[in-house]
Amino acid sequence: MHGLVAVNTVVAASACSVWDVYSTLQVFTVINTFLPNVLGTVKVVEGDGHVGTLINVTFPPGTPGVGYMKEIITKVDNMKHVKETKAIEGGFIAQGFKRYITQYKIIEKNFTSSIIRSTIEYELDHKLANLTSVVNTKLVQKLAETVGKYLTEKTPPPY
Ligand SMILES: *[C@@H]1O[C@H](CO)[C@@H](O)[C@H](O)[C@H]1NC(C)=O
Ligand SMILES: *[C@@H]1O[C@H](CO)[C@@H](O)[C@H](O)[C@H]1NC(C)=O
Ligand SMILES: *[C@@H]1O[C@H](CO)[C@@H](O)[C@H](O)[C@H]1NC(C)=O
Repeated sequence: MHGLVAVNTVVAASACSVWDVYSTLQVFTVINTFLPNVLGTVKVVEGDGHVGTLINVTFPPGTPGVGYMKEIITKVDNMKHVKETKAIEGGFIAQGFKRYITQYKIIEKNFTSSIIRSTIEYELDHKLANLTSVVNTKLVQKLAETVGKYLTEKTPPPY
């Protein structure tokens, strides 16, 4: 069975500045700096942020399950402002998901405002149908809000 959940987050920053963060390693710096107890800690295993980059997310202490998830960046479209990452090991895959893909699309609203559309697409054996209850957009929404805040408050970059 397939499923899809999505959330739109409006942020007070231009689409270009938001895309600059989401499309590069900066997004991991934002996670590691502001959200280690919410999303976890991201380590780049291989790559520089382009397609093929391999990351390992260590979930916050106390998270049930194997405690980490390896993901690969499968799309970075600078024209359409679309990025996709695919889980390949641990996390949702260890729980039994066959496919777990997160997509971020940055949509321009006006010069000072944009929409971050975060979508999670998954595939699951029907025997594990009850696992759909663990899929939600809370964390991707938190990330979108945090990137928006990071850009609008002009916090000096921690790197
Ligand atoms: C990913 O992180 C987990 C937990 O921190 C660790 O056990 C595992 O060895 C890491 N894998 C890679 C490829 O870094
Ligand atoms: C841009 O859009 C935001 C959100 O809808 C709005 O608050 C703001 O006034 C708009 N700015 C301009 C210059 O139109
Ligand atoms: C799904 O069902 C299995 C077997 O009935 C149970 O062990 C598991 O805890 C359930 N998982 C969720 C997320 O509800």
